[in-house]
Amino acid sequence: MKKIVLALVLFSLLAPCAYAQKKETKAVLNNIHQRKSVRTYSDKKVPDEIVTELLKAAMAAPTGMNIQPWYFVVLRDTSQYDRIFAGNGNMKKFKESSVVIVLCADTTVTRPPRENPNAPAVTSPNAIWRDDMGACTENLLLAAEAYGLGACWTACYPFARTMEPVKRELGLPANVVPYCVVPIGYPRLDEKPKDKWKPEKIHYGRW
Ligand SMILES: Cc1cc2nc3c(=O)[nH]c(=O)nc-3n(C[C@H](O)[C@H](O)[C@H](O)COP(=O)(O)O)c2cc1C
Repeated sequence: MKKIVLALVLFSLLAPCAYAQKKETKAVLNNIHQRKSVRTYSDKKVPDEIVTELLKAAMAAPTGMNIQPWYFVVLRDTSQYDRIFAGNGNMKKFKESSVVIVLCADTTVTRPPRENPNAPAVTSPNAIWRDDMGACTENLLLAAEAYGLGACWTACYPFARTMEPVKRELGLPANVVPYCVVPIGYPRLDEKPKDKWKPEKIHYGRW
């Protein structure tokens, strides 16, 4: 009898945890599958506190050797956009959005030489900064989706025509490149995510 009571107590304690975990898993996967590029926005302002949360999510991304090459320039003043984004064909969505985040990358790494940790730091190219920036951008987009916001990854790197005005107008240091631009706002339309599931793209064991 004692054993049955104990089992019942354990079950009643653990069952809600298992359920909560399932709910959390569903919520995370739903967030990933609901994300879509949103290019039209309402007039509603995205509060600064939410922008900070989006940036926290971006900075939580995985990064090779934990280098964290990312920097962010947050823009709200649309009167600057003609100069900053001259040469970028996405002006309409930048101007309509509530906030534009320019994701920048330091393409170098400065640290003591591997062979002598006590020697002065040296600066060398970071071969994998693009991978870090892709992960960082996706985190930002997923966080925007979680807040019911619309956002769109907009290319900047590696096109000189779009990068040069951004570098100049935002005063980026020589070793920092503008990787991409993400306009964010409350969606104006009810856009749906695309279904990209293609099982034929998967090979098991060997191509
Ligand atoms: C590297 C990269 C560059 C992109 N550049 C642009 C862009 O310049 N302008 C734009 O409207 N969308 C851009 N996108 C968004 C893609 O068009 C979009 O992700 C794709 O059509 C799939 O749609 P989805 O994001 O709704 O799933 C870019 C996406 C990536 C990953």
